[in-house]
Amino acid sequence: MMESVGMKLTCLNVLNPKHVSRSFATVPLGFRRFSCSATISAPVSASLGHITRQEFPILHQEVNGSSLVYLDNAATSQKPTAVLNALQKYYQSYNSNVHRGIHFLSAKATDEYELARKKVADFINASKPQEIVFTRNATEAINLVARSWGQSNLKSGDEIVLTVAEHHSAIVPWQIVAQATGAVLKFVGLTEEEVPDIEKMKGMLSNKTKLVVIHHVSNTLGCVLPVDEITLWAHNVGAKVLVDACQSVPHMVVDVQSLNVDFLVASSHKMCGPTGVGFLYGKGELLSKMDPFLGGGEMIADVFLDHSTYADPPSRFEAGTPAIGEAIGLGAAIDYLSGIGMQHIHDYETELATYLYGNLCSISGVRVYGPMPSQTVHRAALCSFNVENIHPTDIATILDQQHGVAIRSGHHCAQPLHRYLGLLRKLSVSSLESLDLENLPRSWLLGLDFRLEMFFSREIFLKC
Ligand SMILES: Cc1ncc(COP(=O)(O)O)c(C=O)c1O
Repeated sequence: MMESVGMKLTCLNVLNPKHVSRSFATVPLGFRRFSCSATISAPVSASLGHITRQEFPILHQEVNGSSLVYLDNAATSQKPTAVLNALQKYYQSYNSNVHRGIHFLSAKATDEYELARKKVADFINASKPQEIVFTRNATEAINLVARSWGQSNLKSGDEIVLTVAEHHSAIVPWQIVAQATGAVLKFVGLTEEEVPDIEKMKGMLSNKTKLVVIHHVSNTLGCVLPVDEITLWAHNVGAKVLVDACQSVPHMVVDVQSLNVDFLVASSHKMCGPTGVGFLYGKGELLSKMDPFLGGGEMIADVFLDHSTYADPPSRFEAGTPAIGEAIGLGAAIDYLSGIGMQHIHDYETELATYLYGNLCSISGVRVYGPMPSQTVHRAALCSFNVENIHPTDIATILDQQHGVAIRSGHHCAQPLHRYLGLLRKLSVSSLESLDLENLPRSWLLGLDFRLEMFFSREIFLKC
């Protein structure tokens, strides 16, 4: 198990292990370490982050006496004014239940709710809005498929192929279904570059494989998987594919028809939208054959005392009153992201990814996880890392309390991956187009340099 932390920027010659005063066990940083010698400069002039930052009111505040620097977008993103306004407008002027009333407010709420569904469908290029089911979040969307499709399509000995880098949300529902049906979970490990070994995955696929569950972008390794290729292999053996797109849909163009995936899930709160809503994309012919997930109002055609008949998708899977205002807010978030342009966002975040990665891995003692950005291996703008001999939680706490910098420390809901890498926990920074690179070196990286200096200085450390 390991502990440590760190990162850097410009000139960080302070990582001198001789000065470490804490009683942490010295733990190796894993089977591979990067050695970049040069730091990478921040892109200059008015970046996309600099421009869009103005549109996120929450970012314009001080936290613990410093200007807030929010680097925890992989966990949840902040919301632009357009989304806040859409929520307020719904609750202030047409709050009402959907699909249930003929009065003006209900009709308006229903129209806006269904318009939001169409916006999601268009955003990921689904062939029709009925292929989009609103759920509470991505986790619920995966559980929906596991319960509804999984319970009736899997039997003893069938195989579900996943990677060790999946989020808990994409593992636990399948464990539950496997226990109920006798299906078997098979996990593929990582290559030396720390990306899921998809060649091995290809070799694992057989006519026993009924489902492949993969992330599009890993929330921990930052790698981007070739979903279209994997889907082709899976379909060749008759398996379906479920893609966890939580970390890709907000950051790049995602086209479900060209990827040809069977199911895809994402969460609104990671894409500048409100919490409490997410979505499942499912191919029409699959959704139409699936049983309901939950029973109740909205999902029925007819109810008798001894049985019921069910509505067509997507209503069949949306029992009870949905998160109406939140779905409308998600629609506004999609308008916001589309207004900037997903390709533009992706290009900017590619710069961010290179910048973050290059600066972090140039520091002696810092171990960045996941692949090196290159022409062939793409990396998202997030980095998980550790610094030798410093506990991640200490770094995260001090950055927050003394610099107003929000980063994540912990297992990132990927404990199997952590065990695979021999880790207990680590830090991560994740950015969005609202991250202002010009602001980053000043407040985050310099602050971090300073804190590392403190950590490695006996006198200062003893005072804290
Ligand atoms: C890759 C990935 N999958 C699934 C989830 C679960 O998302 P939610 O908690 O919104 O359901 C997350 C959230 O961190 C994630 O990063």
